[in-house]
Amino acid sequence: MEIRKAQRSDAHRAFELRTLAIRSECKGHYSDEALARWTEGSATEKFMNDVEQNFHVVMMKGEVAGTGMIDIGNGMVDAIFVDPRFMRVGVARRMMTHLEQIAREAGLPEMKLNSTLNAAAFYRRCGFDGDAVSTYHSPRGFQLDCIPMTKNLSEAAY
Ligand SMILES: CC(C)(COP(=O)(O)OP(=O)(O)OC[C@H]1O[C@@H](n2cnc3c(N)ncnc32)[C@H](O)[C@@H]1OP(=O)(O)O)[C@@H](O)C(=O)NCCC(=O)NCCS
Repeated sequence: MEIRKAQRSDAHRAFELRTLAIRSECKGHYSDEALARWTEGSATEKFMNDVEQNFHVVMMKGEVAGTGMIDIGNGMVDAIFVDPRFMRVGVARRMMTHLEQIAREAGLPEMKLNSTLNAAAFYRRCGFDGDAVSTYHSPRGFQLDCIPMTKNLSEAAY
């Protein structure tokens, strides 16, 4: 398992992986209509720019197995998605460890994220707290239930 900064050429694979991860793991936690809206379309110019500038990718067997990013301006973590073929072998944990290292090097006091309803248990395993359900307003114009979570970085690294 390796981790590296994403390149623009990773954007279509990153979008495919996002779609696969959401359709596999979020099913049952959100309505079919919400899932369809969430995963419709293809990689936009904005998504491709985001991948190129901000994403990191975990590589397994020569493939992009997982994605993730952190905004060091505000400590917000996003785009944590793992290809279902590579789930439950530590890909997302590897990404979270990497993003935490970036956050600590930047001197951030905490990391924040809006968890999907299905992923909160995973983030708790990574040291995040939070269990109140809130509403995520997507840049694409729809809303989803989410769980805002934080991890205090003044404590020892896990
Ligand atoms: C949630 C997700 C990122 C986890 O990825 P993963 O690579 O399978 O997770 P890991 O293998 O690194 O798991 C790390 C730990 O979390 C646990 N874990 C992972 N997914 C879990 C889940 N859905 N429920 C409970 N525990 C989970 C693992 O068992 C492991 O536990 P351990 O500490 O005992 O070893 C992945 O399932 C995914 O992409 N889901 C769909 C997209 C999504 O909802 N992303 C979050 C957006 S906010």
